[in-house]
Amino acid sequence: MSKITPMMQQYHDIKNQYPDAFLFFRLGDFYELFFDDAELAARELEITLTRRGKGDDAAPMCGVPYHSAENYIARLIDKGYKIAICEQVEDPQTAKGVVKREVIRVVTPGTIMEERAVTADANHYIAALSGMDHDRLAYVRTDLTTGETDGGIIGSEVTDIEKALLADGLREVIFPREELPSDWEKWLKTAAFTISYEENEDMPDAYLHLYDGSDPSVRAAFGRMLHYLARTQKRSLAHLQPLATIEPREFLQMDVHTRRNLELTASLRERKKKGSLYHLLDDTKTAMGSRMLHRFLERPLANKREVERRQTLVHQLVDDMLTRAQLQDQLKNVYDLERLAGRVAYGNVNARELVQLRTSLQQVPEIVDTLPALGDEGVRLTEDVDVCEALRERLEAALVDDPPIAIREGGMIRRGFHEELDEYREASENGKTWLSNLEHQEREATGIKNLKVGYNRVFGYYIEISKAQLPHAPDHFERKQTLTNAERFITPDLKEMENRILEAEEKMEQLEFDLFKSVREETNAYIPRLQQLAQMIAYVDCLQSFAQVSEERRFTRPRFSEQRTMSLVNSRHPVVETTLERGAYVANDVHMDDKREQLLITGPNMAGKSTYMRQIAIISVMAQIGCFVPADEATLPLFDKIFTRIGAADDLVSGQSTFMVEMLETEHALKEATANSLLLLDEIGRGTSTYDGMALARSIVEYIHGHIGAKTLFSTHYHELTVLEEELETLWNVHVRAEEEAGEVIFLHKVEEGRADKSYGIHVAQLAHLPDTVIERARALLDEYENVPQENGIAHDEQLPLFTYEEEKKTTRSVKKETPEDAEVAKQIRDMDILNITPLEAMQAIGNWQKQLRSKT
Ligand SMILES: Nc1ncnc2c1ncn2[C@@H]1O[C@H](COP(=O)(O)OP(=O)(O)O)[C@@H](O)[C@H]1O
Ligand SMILES: [Mg+2]
Repeated sequence: MSKITPMMQQYHDIKNQYPDAFLFFRLGDFYELFFDDAELAARELEITLTRRGKGDDAAPMCGVPYHSAENYIARLIDKGYKIAICEQVEDPQTAKGVVKREVIRVVTPGTIMEERAVTADANHYIAALSGMDHDRLAYVRTDLTTGETDGGIIGSEVTDIEKALLADGLREVIFPREELPSDWEKWLKTAAFTISYEENEDMPDAYLHLYDGSDPSVRAAFGRMLHYLARTQKRSLAHLQPLATIEPREFLQMDVHTRRNLELTASLRERKKKGSLYHLLDDTKTAMGSRMLHRFLERPLANKREVERRQTLVHQLVDDMLTRAQLQDQLKNVYDLERLAGRVAYGNVNARELVQLRTSLQQVPEIVDTLPALGDEGVRLTEDVDVCEALRERLEAALVDDPPIAIREGGMIRRGFHEELDEYREASENGKTWLSNLEHQEREATGIKNLKVGYNRVFGYYIEISKAQLPHAPDHFERKQTLTNAERFITPDLKEMENRILEAEEKMEQLEFDLFKSVREETNAYIPRLQQLAQMIAYVDCLQSFAQVSEERRFTRPRFSEQRTMSLVNSRHPVVETTLERGAYVANDVHMDDKREQLLITGPNMAGKSTYMRQIAIISVMAQIGCFVPADEATLPLFDKIFTRIGAADDLVSGQSTFMVEMLETEHALKEATANSLLLLDEIGRGTSTYDGMALARSIVEYIHGHIGAKTLFSTHYHELTVLEEELETLWNVHVRAEEEAGEVIFLHKVEEGRADKSYGIHVAQLAHLPDTVIERARALLDEYENVPQENGIAHDEQLPLFTYEEEKKTTRSVKKETPEDAEVAKQIRDMDILNITPLEAMQAIGNWQKQLRSKT
């Protein structure tokens, strides 16, 4: 092998430390990539692959210009890659040998801070795990842009891990290398997470104050996070906030499936914000507010006091339109304090952003003055809030109204802020006046009317005279540059003044930069206070949004029942309602209590069964985030968990859904649900054959009835199951009504007591525009079936669910609720040892049973 150049040696040394990242190696105005990095980047970024060096040793290479690097970085990050940015850390002019280079930061999908890569209204998380080796899994997540961190212990079941990791906005997960199970790795990659490793899990001393809990697993996960962040970011993380410990019992728990299925933050089909509950409720005015709303929806409360606290404020805001409007106006002028604070700590804030901070701080006192109008809860919000007056004053004094984005070119600092700066300014301005006077004077002196004084980067200040006037040029003009139509000159006086002006400007720029840095430093000290302020403002913003939407959409304040009663009058599905014309949505009542815990919902396809069930769950979620709900009156239990299971055929979420998945999830729901949970089981058992499915559906309902007692909504197309009402004490039939009129089915979307009597399958087929011949043939067959003598018994198969209830009744054995006599007889039969009795004893026993059973009628 031939000798490699010292620079390539440097490259290899650095690259070896960052094997899992693209190394962006700074060479002049470019970041260059070499070898495998180059080949992969050229493909991913569609840029030209070249070579450095000659012959066999030529290294594949590609590069991106320094000035547009941010763009390329964002694209690679988007694809889940990491990028180590390697800069020249000494001046190439003075360097001896190869210029020293160092990685100054590793940009990763979970740590990117650049504005164009993170959405303003959503958090952007990186997570760290610990405790995989001893089954006490802890999870910590951080949003580096805002410094927010939360975490806690999670169960070690797949669903627990999913619940934690498949949260919105998580991009990257940090593990201890040895402990990452290989099946997880696959799963994480499919879910498009970037996987990172960090072994060190000791909490660094500098950050001990961020965790006051005592759980060793949580501490380890947080330690891992902090080491990883320190290693990749290589700068101050002073904006990291204390870890908020998540106590699952404090929150309404929902697994990933349920969150998606209820379309809380994204629509099912398109995964878009539009069509989600979040979209409906979001009338926030600040980015902080909309991020908080996101978190509210991610974790509705299970703590009544906290919910009622929010409700009280929302209620005030609904009633007091004036205060609401005032707050909305004030909030509009508040910028993203949290992310600004993050950029201050991170050291990449510019003057324009500090002005945004100032504008926000100017609003704060007004907000603080407005809040007490909302009563005690409003006053409470203003306690412990520091409006950072001194900082505001400082920023007002230091920064001009509209500073540039660049921080090294001056123009940021206000006149009167710093004496020396003002002197330089004056010198530079005097110089400029001198120059414009000079133009005037020289015109007079020489008589050249079009003589002018100008400036360019190469020659500095000059005097320009057109070719025609050249003979009039005085002797003390020194010729400097010749143009096609003009000649440029300098004079000693002019050069001296130029020196003075340029010197003043250079000093001015340096001084402005220094002053800006010191103001930025001062701002640093306010970070925790700014974050606290941001939280308060986000909270107010969220609640005013609830109030605004609640008023516009005629929502009501729900009450919480200690008796686990659910009573909704004229309730609506808030999102479906908006897709229909005003007033077109059919409102429905719901009544459930301790005598009525399970509802079995029947009705034809498209009647509105699924909508009704989801509506109830969504209303519960809305209530538990503190919002009002779409109903005329609402009383609700405070649920601890919500589960939803959607029959395989209806399952849009996983796409790949199989009957097995459905059953696994049902198993999970049955294991986790309590009497305080809400269960939605929509067409469970649909994914398998009729009798199988029906048997399963039935045993599941029986199990919930007998062992869990959760509030359950169970929709089914198995009409046979409606007989359960007679057997299961707290289960009741309801149906979504449809009517037939002149051969057409009319969906009334009205939920009523009792079971449905028809299935209307053919009508739905007709709605779907199946060919007329198919429809007619089906009608004819239906007629035939309906007129078949009962003994043929075809009517048993509900896959052809076309029989009216009346007919069905004749073919299905009708089951009455079991009486004590029935139970007693059944017990005797069960207990009887038939191998050890005589025929006569058997006859006697049968006679007795007959007597017992007849006595009750
Ligand atoms: N209460 C209602 N008022 C008006 N339209 C409704 C109502 N409930 C449902 N719908 C409409 O009927 C369609 C079918 O509802 P869905 O709940 O999917 O029926 P099912 O589950 O019974 O097949 C929905 O897309 C919606 O447009
Ligand atoms: Mg349905």
